[in-house]
Amino acid sequence: MADKSFHSSLKKNSFLRRRVKAIKNYKEFMGDAADFNRYYIEKAELKGDYSYRLMLLVHSVEKGLCSNKPRAFGKSKAKQIAEILKSSPEKAEEFEYALGISALKAWKAFHDEHGYDIPEDLYQYINNLKTIDGAGCSLFKKEKSFFGRRSVRDFENREISSEDIDYALKFFQAAPTACNRQMCSVYRVKSEEAKRLLIEKIMGISGFNTEAVTFFLITFDIASLDYFGERNQGYLNVGLTAMNFANALHQKGIGSCFLQWSNKRRDDKAVREKLGLKKSERIGVVIGAGYYKENVKTPNSVRKPILQIYKEI
Ligand SMILES: Cc1cc2nc3c(=O)[nH]c(=O)nc-3n(C[C@H](O)[C@H](O)[C@H](O)COP(=O)(O)O)c2cc1C
Repeated sequence: MADKSFHSSLKKNSFLRRRVKAIKNYKEFMGDAADFNRYYIEKAELKGDYSYRLMLLVHSVEKGLCSNKPRAFGKSKAKQIAEILKSSPEKAEEFEYALGISALKAWKAFHDEHGYDIPEDLYQYINNLKTIDGAGCSLFKKEKSFFGRRSVRDFENREISSEDIDYALKFFQAAPTACNRQMCSVYRVKSEEAKRLLIEKIMGISGFNTEAVTFFLITFDIASLDYFGERNQGYLNVGLTAMNFANALHQKGIGSCFLQWSNKRRDDKAVREKLGLKKSERIGVVIGAGYYKENVKTPNSVRKPILQIYKEI
């Protein structure tokens, strides 16, 4: 009875109701922070699971292999992969571990081809591994189909036409959003100053042709979200709309690459202010794009087998 009257008086007092809601919001967000601390990649490693670390290391090696300016690179990453593989020989057949082996093989082949040195013990270790294909770097083949889209980081040095952007915007607009709230926006970065700022702040920009790239910011508006259960809604909807946009760009012969916006809050705030975004707006992801260039190399980015990603419960 007391509980009922508390709820009805809460409903009538919107100030009090919002205070209670704010506490619930904090509690749920804090729960996410606790989960993150409990389970993020280093915690998995403490339990002997290096599968995601291997994926990160392999990706980094593959990007080095694709560089336009070949150089000796990645010795410490290769050593790290080798250490992980040595620590878990029983996992050698697992997807991520086998990919790690193939990355080491590709890295060694690249160094051999260019005559770059590899420490003797690492050289011998890689040499003795069973040859596995997989990780590496390949020449991008232009193909319009859905499966022809690949992340590219080098582009033709010409402006993207308004017609092509309009086409991609229609796809962005057509993407579903939660309760059709359409809380996502696209910003095409035209000012040179804003572009330079993004180049300075985007963490994963290495390996990009920063002269030829056009940036698009995909944002969401927190003002559209109703309660704590929607705390990840903005990012989810950015993902859906951004993917539609990138696929449409691909249809028009425009290559792109998502760039994660993972800056600290202070940096993020400073950039949003400089770009003139609304206070409640957040950057979900940045897309770097431009017309596909001939002879572009892309990391193989081999996918996990379907058996590993599909489960029935
Ligand atoms: C959310 C997201 C963030 C990404 N961030 C970066 C990044 O910061 N730098 C980068 O070079 N690639 C980035 N990528 C591109 C991925 O590395 C790429 O999508 C992945 O290796 C699969 O390759 P594919 O897109 O060619 O199929 C990102 C991709 C996604 C989906």
